[in-house]
Amino acid sequence: MKLQNLLRVSALAISAAAFATAAPAADVKEVQMLHWWTSGGEAAALNVLKEDLAKQGYAWKDVPVAGGGGEAAMTALKAMVAAGNNPTSSQMLGYIVLEYAAGGATGDLTATATKEGWDKVVPKALQKFAVYNGKWVAVPVNVHSVNWLWINKAVMDKIGGSEPKTFDDLIALLDKAKAAGVVPLAQGGQPWQEATMFDSVVMATGGVDFYKKAFLELDPAALKSDTMKKSFDNLAKLRSYADPNYAGRDWNLATAMVIKGDALVQVMGDWAKGEFKAANKEVGKDFLCYRFPGTQSSVIYNSDMFAMFKVPADRQAAQVALATATMSPSFQSAFNVVKGSVPARTDVPDTAFDACGKKGIADLKAANDGGTLVGSLAQGYGQPPAIAQAYHDVVTKFFHGQIKTSDAAVSELVKAIDAAK
Ligand code: GAL
Repeated sequence: MKLQNLLRVSALAISAAAFATAAPAADVKEVQMLHWWTSGGEAAALNVLKEDLAKQGYAWKDVPVAGGGGEAAMTALKAMVAAGNNPTSSQMLGYIVLEYAAGGATGDLTATATKEGWDKVVPKALQKFAVYNGKWVAVPVNVHSVNWLWINKAVMDKIGGSEPKTFDDLIALLDKAKAAGVVPLAQGGQPWQEATMFDSVVMATGGVDFYKKAFLELDPAALKSDTMKKSFDNLAKLRSYADPNYAGRDWNLATAMVIKGDALVQVMGDWAKGEFKAANKEVGKDFLCYRFPGTQSSVIYNSDMFAMFKVPADRQAAQVALATATMSPSFQSAFNVVKGSVPARTDVPDTAFDACGKKGIADLKAANDGGTLVGSLAQGYGQPPAIAQAYHDVVTKFFHGQIKTSDAAVSELVKAIDAAK
């Protein structure tokens, strides 16, 4: 080759190489998502999202960590983030989002949020957890609430029961089931489940203002009050209606007992409805949903957030696609119909929802307007994780008989919360 040509070829090669290093790497068309949605209803709901993203060409890299309530998932996530292995996103509850944001692990979706006007449609109660220091670090996929009863309709008819309006009515209903030889209460026996039920019991016992004082303000007088003691008494009363095998039982297996008619009722968040749906059961025909008696005008909420992590530049487009898909009104409707929850946007019509979903949407609005929308302490929306953990520990010890009396439970709760502060 002539020298001139040789120079031209190598110049071309050099500029090609320079171009290759200067050009941004192609976007990775993949979303890596850590979550604990492994039950039938949960997996069906997650599929709605997977399919949405697949239509846009994004592969789904699933990181499932089984365990209702997400404790095991959060342990796995901690290890991943510590190893510098951030997922695109992780399912997360309330105060945990704020902890990751404070630790500098989260990304920034503010540009997308501004473009799409999220601040105008996401309830302020949720924005408190999705926005940190003015930046959107998470997107809420739903609003769940924990103060529900899920009842098998055939069993209800058989025992001639009707909607319990007060805690005493509920006890009378459970007695009827017991007399008819049916397990009255389908109970899962894990700390998060017992604490989730206790949220409702405390509100039913003391009212919404008491719940706020004790759990949201950590008012010492409320925490050690006779009303708190009475709440533990009421929890013990409920426990006496569970079958003897509840210890360790997963929440969805307890739901299955109600679905099959082996038990009358489960006290659980509305993710339970996802299980009824997945089993092709219909509200009004196969099952009934009522607010936990004594909490009818309040909503004790949690919301599944998708926390967005700091990811390399070539993964950011996928993260934005995930956030945009999650916040789209049509997705919020389609997903929440399957999940049992209600939309995390105020502008999504209730048309596609069943009677429980319609009630959930109306209750959320009324509670938000009336000041009776309160975060679930058991589900990460009442207090930071250390305090929520202390709450789980004491409630579960009481539930399983390691703390023997309501008096002792109250003083252990006060002590544990003080130590966790
Ligand atoms: C909750 C979560 C729900 C549901 C439930 C049981 O913490 O908010 O979406 O998944 O756990 O796994």
